[in-house]
Amino acid sequence: MTTLRRELLNYAEFLRACGNLYVESGREGAGRTKEEPREPEAPPPPDVRLAEAGVEGALREPMAGSSEGNLLMSSRETGKASPSQLDFFDTAEPPKPLDAEDLSEAERQARVTDAMAVVEACTACELCHGRARTVYSDGSVMARIVFVGEAPGAEEDRTGIPFVGRAGKLLTKMIAAIGFEREEVYICNMLKCRPPGNRDPLPSEKKTCEQFLIQQIQWIRPQILVGLGAHASAYLTGQETSIGKMRKRWHSFRGIPVLATYHPAFLLRSPSFKKTAWEDMLMLSERYAELNPGDKRKVWRGEW
Ligand code: URA
Repeated sequence: MTTLRRELLNYAEFLRACGNLYVESGREGAGRTKEEPREPEAPPPPDVRLAEAGVEGALREPMAGSSEGNLLMSSRETGKASPSQLDFFDTAEPPKPLDAEDLSEAERQARVTDAMAVVEACTACELCHGRARTVYSDGSVMARIVFVGEAPGAEEDRTGIPFVGRAGKLLTKMIAAIGFEREEVYICNMLKCRPPGNRDPLPSEKKTCEQFLIQQIQWIRPQILVGLGAHASAYLTGQETSIGKMRKRWHSFRGIPVLATYHPAFLLRSPSFKKTAWEDMLMLSERYAELNPGDKRKVWRGEW
């Protein structure tokens, strides 16, 4: 696919995103910006930017016969994480299950630690200029549930930890309501850097950062993925529509069950939707119980 075609597709996605995703977008303050974000000047293709950013192997050709799964092994291990292979939206092929890698806890942790360092050094898009910290993940590398948000907000940018602001505190309560400690699940975002003024992520930013999220999912290999808000849910379900239309049914991201629900920041602004979000959390809890019959969890909504 030519660079021009990819940029046109990105721009079309951007226009759709402006129309569809605005209302239920995530971070505190997101969705309230007065001006529609504009695409920056046509950037070089992501693989060139990543190579400039020092992402090892970004410009290398894939090995003959390689699968996406092994392309997504850590750059430390393979040096072949070419983002041009990660054209998830550009392919007509159905999503593939992730490779059946069974990593030990130590190996997962090592990959995550390595990837954090790569992300810290990343200058692949404009967001690197405004960030205080990169925000990679929080929680257990052995988690069976992974929550995916949109992008860091102010508090996350300051601390380097996802979901620690007001929305994060609500998320922690939602997780506790289905009987989990925050430390038992894994929490990350689509973007690892804060967009200025908490504006919505641009399609080009999502595309550039996508490889990091795919790696995280690959290494953690959760039983269930939860999309928080429109951006993460659209990405994980492959459906660019409202949360209202995505929720209440199971989707799949390369073989992993996906549940879409409202972003906690949206719930802070629209508390009447908390009841609906609680239904989603119960659906998550039921699916977890089915998959782990021996692991009884205390479900009690409590105060949120
Ligand atoms: N909103 C998000 O989507 N992610 C965070 O980490 C914080 C707020």
